[in-house]
Amino acid sequence: MMVQAPEELRGLLTDLLGPEGGEAFLGVVGQGAPTAFRVNTLKATDHRAFELLEEEGFRAEPLRGVPHGYLLTEEPFPLGRSFSHFLGNLYIQDPSSMLPPLALRPAPGELVLDLAAAPGSKTTQMAAMMENRGLIVANDPKVRRSTFLSFNLMRTGAVNTVVTLLPGNRLGRLYFETFDRVLLDPPCSALGTVKAAPEALRWWRRSERLSRLQWDLMVSAIKALKPGGVLVYSTCTLMPQENEAVVAEALRRYPVELEEVRFEGLKAHPGLTSFQDLSFPQEMSRAVRLYPHEGPGEGFFIARLRKTSGMKPPLERPGGERLPLVDSHHPSVKDFSKALADHFGLPEGFFEGFLFERAKELRIFTPEAARLSYLNYTHRGLPLARPEGPPPALTTWGAQFLGLFASQNVIDLQDPMELLSYLRREELVVSDGLRGQQVIRY
Ligand SMILES: C[S@@+](CC[C@H](N)C(=O)[O-])C[C@H]1O[C@@H](n2cnc3c(N)ncnc32)[C@H](O)[C@@H]1O
Repeated sequence: MMVQAPEELRGLLTDLLGPEGGEAFLGVVGQGAPTAFRVNTLKATDHRAFELLEEEGFRAEPLRGVPHGYLLTEEPFPLGRSFSHFLGNLYIQDPSSMLPPLALRPAPGELVLDLAAAPGSKTTQMAAMMENRGLIVANDPKVRRSTFLSFNLMRTGAVNTVVTLLPGNRLGRLYFETFDRVLLDPPCSALGTVKAAPEALRWWRRSERLSRLQWDLMVSAIKALKPGGVLVYSTCTLMPQENEAVVAEALRRYPVELEEVRFEGLKAHPGLTSFQDLSFPQEMSRAVRLYPHEGPGEGFFIARLRKTSGMKPPLERPGGERLPLVDSHHPSVKDFSKALADHFGLPEGFFEGFLFERAKELRIFTPEAARLSYLNYTHRGLPLARPEGPPPALTTWGAQFLGLFASQNVIDLQDPMELLSYLRREELVVSDGLRGQQVIRY
């Protein structure tokens, strides 16, 4: 169906994409986006994830250019209601939205800031790329959206995150030159999302207002980045005012330079060096643009910047609070960590190298979480157990996390019928002699 777009928007699309590109773009408005997902390598290998998915009746094919990314080809019921999804084996995510973390390349052990993180598609992807090590400060000031972020972090078993609820422009001062990598995926006019959200055709007029917010967040992101660190700026809009213009201003005013972003096997275009009466530096061609009429995903803009030198520190830095974290030998947690390790037969020294907070729940963290102070934080680490024991009672997330490593007090279901009857809450026949909490595994 060809959509009727107002003249002004048609003109804009023609200037951006050429006459044929503009028509092709309007041709996909409202056609719906295919369901894509990423296997969460913190919970399952691709092979293991597919065994269960296929038993549930789903079929999928690999997405080009995205490791662990797949496009559903058969969806007998919504993937979001599957057992695979509940277990956190996968994350439903637009194919183009999987690209900014690939451009950022966060590594295990690094300190990473995700400045506008909710609902966490890219945070959870980065947690997996970092093999659950190092730390991601995942920030989003919208309380409701951040509850989805926290839930997604628990479902995917991310231990290496702390969620804060701050306006992003405050983070540059709070975390001046702290992070190895920063992802800035700010609010945008979302013109690239028209396949699934035709109403986005009306939002491009918001560009001017949004570009002011994007600029404030860009400045904050650059300040939070260590000299030599990498920043990825991404949006799901095609509007140059929110993309190239924001990046060009950063190149002009701050010590950053653009690095090449390329994705093997994907149709993409270089960033623009001019648009209508705007002109941008030649190196803008190192950024990429993806268009929704040319691939399975949304339209996206992705630029990778490296900070070339240090900046003048702020006169005053807000304090923030340290988390009350202790290691597994600390008197407040040692009985619990030992009881959990003994009860579930965890590998020797399993809890070495993690830190804990003993509050209403026993939470587990990576050591890097202790290196920073936080303001207005909510979710942090992974809630592992309720320490009312010993032995402590595992939370659902704790059971999913530890269950992968447990060697005793585990009930391994043998076939799909057993799994089905368990999911229907029918009685399980188990061997005698089992005591205390059991992890059910399939
Ligand atoms: C494009 S979405 C982020 C999507 C997310 N990165 C993901 O991949 O799941 C932009 C986010 O910016 C957040 N936001 C709005 N105002 C903000 C501000 N002043 N500072 C930081 N984030 C803000 C919104 O709540 C929204 O969740």
